[in-house]
Amino acid sequence: MNRLPAPTIPDLLRRKLERRPISMVTAYDAFHGSLLREAGIDIALVGDTLGMVVQGHESTLPVTVDEMVYHTRMVARGLKGSALLLADMPFLSYQPSPETAIREAGRIVKEGGAQGVKIEGGRDYAETMKRIVSSMIPVMGHIGLLPQKVHSMGGFRVQGRGDAEAKVILEDARALVDAGVFALLVEGVPFDLARRITHEVPVPVIGIGAGPYTDGQVLVIHDLMGWTESERIPRFVRPFSRGREDAVRALTDFRREVETRGFPKETESYSD
Ligand code: KIV
Repeated sequence: MNRLPAPTIPDLLRRKLERRPISMVTAYDAFHGSLLREAGIDIALVGDTLGMVVQGHESTLPVTVDEMVYHTRMVARGLKGSALLLADMPFLSYQPSPETAIREAGRIVKEGGAQGVKIEGGRDYAETMKRIVSSMIPVMGHIGLLPQKVHSMGGFRVQGRGDAEAKVILEDARALVDAGVFALLVEGVPFDLARRITHEVPVPVIGIGAGPYTDGQVLVIHDLMGWTESERIPRFVRPFSRGREDAVRALTDFRREVETRGFPKETESYSD
C-alpha cells in the first residue's frame, strides 16, 4: 500500500468528528519512513525518543535540534509524503524563550521538512505554543507523562492519578487548546482521564499508555515491532511482531554459517 496524499490537519479534525481512529508511529530514518508509507500510517513522528532507542541514552534529554533535523530529513525521504510528518522539539529548544522556540521550530520545519512540531508541557508553555502557532507552524501539545521532565517526575511514572492531579492535566489540555494546538498527545495517564480529555477538547487526542478511548494511538516503532529488549517493554505496549527474536536468530545463523563455512555456497557466488 502506498497511500497518497497524507492526511492533512483539517482531515485529522474531521476524523475526530467522524470517530475514525488515527494511527501514529515514530520513525527515525528513511527505512522506517518507507515502512510507515507501505503500511498506510497516518502520522509519522520523529520522536526525541531517538535519544533512547537509536542513540542508547537513558533519557531523551541529550537530543539536539541538529539531530532532530537530520533524522526528520531521512524520514521525509522514506515517507515520500505518505503521512503527516511531525517532529519533537527536544529539551531546551523551546524552554528558554518563545523567540528561541519559534526559531528552533522553524529549523525543524524549514531544514527538516516536518509539517508541524510536538512540544511537551502544560499551561506553562501555552504562550510559547501560541507564539509558534502564530508563526504558522502547527503544534501538537504533549501532556501527562512528560519524558523531558523525567528527573522532576522521579522517573517515567503514570501521571494524573487522583482527582487533584487529573484536574491539573485537564486544565493543561484546555490551556493548550486555547493556545491553538491542532492536536494533543496524552501520555501515561489513567484511561478514564484520557477519555475525559478526549470528550472535552475539540482537537484530536492521540494516546500512548492512555487506554483505548482516545481519538488515535501512537507507539514507538521499536516497541511496536518487538525490537525492544523484553525487560524494557512497558505494560501499555503490544509488540505486533517478533522483530528482535527474528533478528537475533538471523544474526546467530549467519555467524554459525560463516564459522562452519556454510555461507556462502558456490551458487551464492560469481563464476568466470
Ligand atoms: O518522542 C516520542 O517518541 C514520543 C512518544 C510518546 C510517542 O513523544
